[in-house]
Amino acid sequence: MNVPLQRVNLASVVILMLTQVLLVHFTEITSPADNYTVSQGDNATLSCFIDENVTRVAWLNRSNILYTGKDKWSIDRRVQLLTNTKSEFSIIITKVDVADEGLYTCSYQTHDRPHTSQVYLIVQVPAQIVNISSSIIVNEGSNVNLMCLAVGKPEPTVTWRQLKEGFSSEGELLEITEINRQQAGEYECITSNGVSTPDSKKVLITVNYPPSITDVKNAQSSVGKSAVLRCEASAVPPAEFEWYKEDKRRLFTGMEGIKIQNERTWSVLLFSNVTSRHYGNYTCLASNRLGSFNTSLRLLKPGFALNHGVTHTLSPLLLGFFCSTFVFFLRTV
Ligand SMILES: *[C@@H]1O[C@H](CO)[C@@H](O)[C@H](O)[C@H]1NC(C)=O
Ligand SMILES: *[C@@H]1O[C@H](CO)[C@@H](O)[C@H](O)[C@H]1NC(C)=O
Ligand SMILES: *[C@@H]1O[C@H](CO)[C@@H](O)[C@H](O)[C@H]1NC(C)=O
Ligand SMILES: *[C@@H]1O[C@H](CO)[C@@H](O)[C@H](O)[C@H]1NC(C)=O
Ligand SMILES: *[C@@H]1O[C@H](CO)[C@@H](O)[C@H](O)[C@H]1NC(C)=O
Ligand SMILES: *[C@@H]1O[C@H](CO)[C@@H](O)[C@H](O)[C@H]1NC(C)=O
Ligand SMILES: *[C@@H]1O[C@H](CO)[C@@H](O)[C@H](O)[C@H]1NC(C)=O
Ligand SMILES: *[C@@H]1O[C@H](CO)[C@@H](O)[C@H](O)[C@H]1NC(C)=O
Repeated sequence: MNVPLQRVNLASVVILMLTQVLLVHFTEITSPADNYTVSQGDNATLSCFIDENVTRVAWLNRSNILYTGKDKWSIDRRVQLLTNTKSEFSIIITKVDVADEGLYTCSYQTHDRPHTSQVYLIVQVPAQIVNISSSIIVNEGSNVNLMCLAVGKPEPTVTWRQLKEGFSSEGELLEITEINRQQAGEYECITSNGVSTPDSKKVLITVNYPPSITDVKNAQSSVGKSAVLRCEASAVPPAEFEWYKEDKRRLFTGMEGIKIQNERTWSVLLFSNVTSRHYGNYTCLASNRLGSFNTSLRLLKPGFALNHGVTHTLSPLLLGFFCSTFVFFLRTV
């Protein structure tokens, strides 16, 4: 058991020298190395199948001896002897990393003749997103750039996908010029390289735009009955509604027996008991910080033909907002 260390090392050095010399002179012995693919962090088992006539055996990483028989040469704690019998000489490298990729050689002697068998260790790394644009709020008409950085081995593919319409684009950078409101929503970056499952992350693009009144409902009602004028607007951020009588007087809940009810996308003017003074033209004004839009509605006596023709007026405020985008980036992992 207690072989003097110096002797063992000397013997191994001799093997190493023999191996290197004979690798050069008897290249016809070695067949092309098999590839052995492992994922980063996994264990790699290097097995060398031998027979009883083998007198010396070693595993080498490039030209460095890792093990000769039961003697460890490598100072790397991840390298361990697994099997050392008459028929098999195997070592294990735990938690392999990309630096371990390369040619490993099993070198052995039978009847004083050297032999080698080689394996090329390939270390793969699952695709992973390492940096991605954060969710952003922009004004309609802005240019938007989304970026998604991914790493992996082999080199991963990166795809941006708009979740709402399913449209997708290859590459780390997604450039949207003059974004419109239909292009708002969630975008997903997906990266894969065939190792493990693909990685993905989502980004939300909010597109601000000034209000436009999309629907109005005129009303026809008799004195003493109830009536409802309705105004619906599309806007981001959501519009604030105001009601005017004859385009001048601002109306508030409680005035002249009326009530105003505002929701996210619509507003109603409620008359619980119509009087003759209520008949006439009303204006619904929808506004947000990008602009405003007004439309005229009518509360009519019974008998008048309901005229759905409405007049729309857009007055863009704060046009400067169209030019500004706010882009921040998230820190990930
Ligand atoms: C090992 O992989 C490389 C590149 O991935 C390839 O060119 C080579 O043919 C492979 N060798 C064997 C023996 O499969
Ligand atoms: C790798 O090998 C070590 C030591 O032999 C063992 O504890 C561990 O469970 C192995 N890991 C995997 C993923 O096989
Ligand atoms: C080992 O060597 C002896 C003598 O040359 C031979 O008879 C025997 O078949 C060899 N064993 C193997 C497994 O090759
Ligand atoms: C193999 O050799 C390379 C280059 O010297 C080194 O970076 C790596 O850690 C070695 N791996 C093992 C398992 O010995
Ligand atoms: C509506 O107003 C009139 C006059 O003010 C009143 O006589 C009538 O009772 C009211 N109707 C209802 C349903 O409140
Ligand atoms: C509606 O828009 C027109 C044109 O911009 C404007 O003259 C009018 O004052 C607006 N009405 C209200 C109630 O803001
Ligand atoms: C009400 O609006 C209509 C159409 O917008 C217009 O023709 C009419 O003159 C207005 N009436 C009053 C009283 O302002
Ligand atoms: C992500 O990318 C942005 C822009 O290139 C950079 O400013 C930021 O520092 C990166 N974050 C990380 C965690 O690498």
